[in-house]
Amino acid sequence: MYEELEKIRHACQTCQKCPLWQTRTNSVFADGIPNSKLMLIGEAPGFNEDQQGRPFVGRAGQLLDKIFESVGLSRTKDIYICNTLKCRPPDNRDPLPEEKAACKAYLQAQVDILKPRLILLCGRIAMASFLDTPLGITKIRGKWFDGPHGSKMMPIFHPSYLLRNASREKGSPKWLMWQDIQEVKRAYDALTQS
Ligand code: URA
Repeated sequence: MYEELEKIRHACQTCQKCPLWQTRTNSVFADGIPNSKLMLIGEAPGFNEDQQGRPFVGRAGQLLDKIFESVGLSRTKDIYICNTLKCRPPDNRDPLPEEKAACKAYLQAQVDILKPRLILLCGRIAMASFLDTPLGITKIRGKWFDGPHGSKMMPIFHPSYLLRNASREKGSPKWLMWQDIQEVKRAYDALTQS
């Protein structure tokens, strides 16, 4: 399983399927535990991720780590983290449809090889890659949907959105994320302790 994954990581490093290869420093394949029951899919690498070749290492990533740590989960023990796009879009703009299309096979292969039981779709871009719904993320975050290979998928807010919304009041994005991450932990425990 890891050999196959390594082949795909290597293919990403040399990929020229869309123009983003021209501006990348590194492609960003994944971080964390490949055989985890829990996969998080984000949007695309930002500046820090492009520099370091690892997903979610900037400010948003630090917040994401804290959110997981608040329920006792960590990327070194429990989670596999990857992105919808493996290369950074210039100025962190939204991925273009043709970039998503070019990159889709890599993400699909990660899901197909690893077959996580729980998939967190982090932010609206990751959500749109898997869920065909006219509803925005605010409406459907925190809900479980049927995913590939019998998995359950949940859209959650992107940490960058939480960085822009400081309030912790009941009903605020941060408060909602706290509800969602506790539900994720319950589902994860049910899988790992049964
Ligand atoms: N935002 C993402 O969606 N992914 C990263 O890897 C970093 C920031």
